[in-house]
Amino acid sequence: MNATVLPQTSAGIKVEPLPYALGAYVTGVDLRRLDDAAFAAIHAAWLEHLVIVIRGQQIGDDDQTSFSYRFGVLDEVPIVSKGQAPRYNKHISVISNIREKGVPIGGLGDDEVLWHSDTSYRDQPPSASVLQALEIPLAGGNTGFSNMYLALETLPPELRSRIDTLTANQDITYTAGGELREGFTPVTDVRKCPGATHPLIRTHPETKRNALYLGRRRNAYIHGLEVAESEALLDTLWAHATQDFLAWHHQWRVGDVAVWDNRCVMHHRDPFDPQGRRIMHRAQARDGKRPARDAAAEMAPHPRGQRYLAAQVSR
Ligand code: OGA
Ligand code: MN
Repeated sequence: MNATVLPQTSAGIKVEPLPYALGAYVTGVDLRRLDDAAFAAIHAAWLEHLVIVIRGQQIGDDDQTSFSYRFGVLDEVPIVSKGQAPRYNKHISVISNIREKGVPIGGLGDDEVLWHSDTSYRDQPPSASVLQALEIPLAGGNTGFSNMYLALETLPPELRSRIDTLTANQDITYTAGGELREGFTPVTDVRKCPGATHPLIRTHPETKRNALYLGRRRNAYIHGLEVAESEALLDTLWAHATQDFLAWHHQWRVGDVAVWDNRCVMHHRDPFDPQGRRIMHRAQARDGKRPARDAAAEMAPHPRGQRYLAAQVSR
């Protein structure tokens, strides 16, 4: 890298909102040289659009972690597979289907990854996930994002009031890809799963808007309900939250860096041809807070989804 280049200022940054319930492309920025004003513009776009894809980047792992660090405290990532060599940058995890000498170089393989928000089984889940595309297959492997403010806002009123004060356990036993996590034993009784308890409706600490917070479906359990009741209510909530109108599916290009907000977004990955190669590097930052409900929260809906709905109606 040329050491004499000046820091990037916000002047050239372009934010292009997408015609979906969330999402924007960001261009005209080099994440390797970002000044505070440029980061402020990116951060504001992220809060407004929930997920941003910054295009045309050529960044190494250390550039990715320096950028991610601006969003909060970085999580350390565990080694995802047995026999995998530890990475020198302990904040970068590899998402890939590639195997070297039979050992996967990363996690999540080539299958579908069901809708989820990242590491919801921790007391302090990440706010920002930062995912960089290094190699992508010719087809498939798109990543979907879904607006959980809008999911809450469009929930039938009786359902919304039913879940108003409910909390759920988020299980840690299985990965988003459905694999048993290293060091855990299979659990079938959802009332006994290790993990973390979070409210089903959380207030975003920065936008002060409420969002539906489902984490992941597998082994989730709503406290205080019979198991069958909890299962039925979760199925209803998930059927609502995974509707097409809430989502945008991103088709990756090499050099894309996506940043999504796990406090108000769920994501999903399409499967892809196992013969194809896909390599993504991920960092995640947390805001240092437990998901919580703020009674003084702004009751007005988040504008992003509302604008989208209004545009649909007037079309
Ligand atoms: C993730 C994830 C999906 C993808 O990195 O948290 O779910 O598209 N990735 O690779
Ligand atoms: Mn994920």
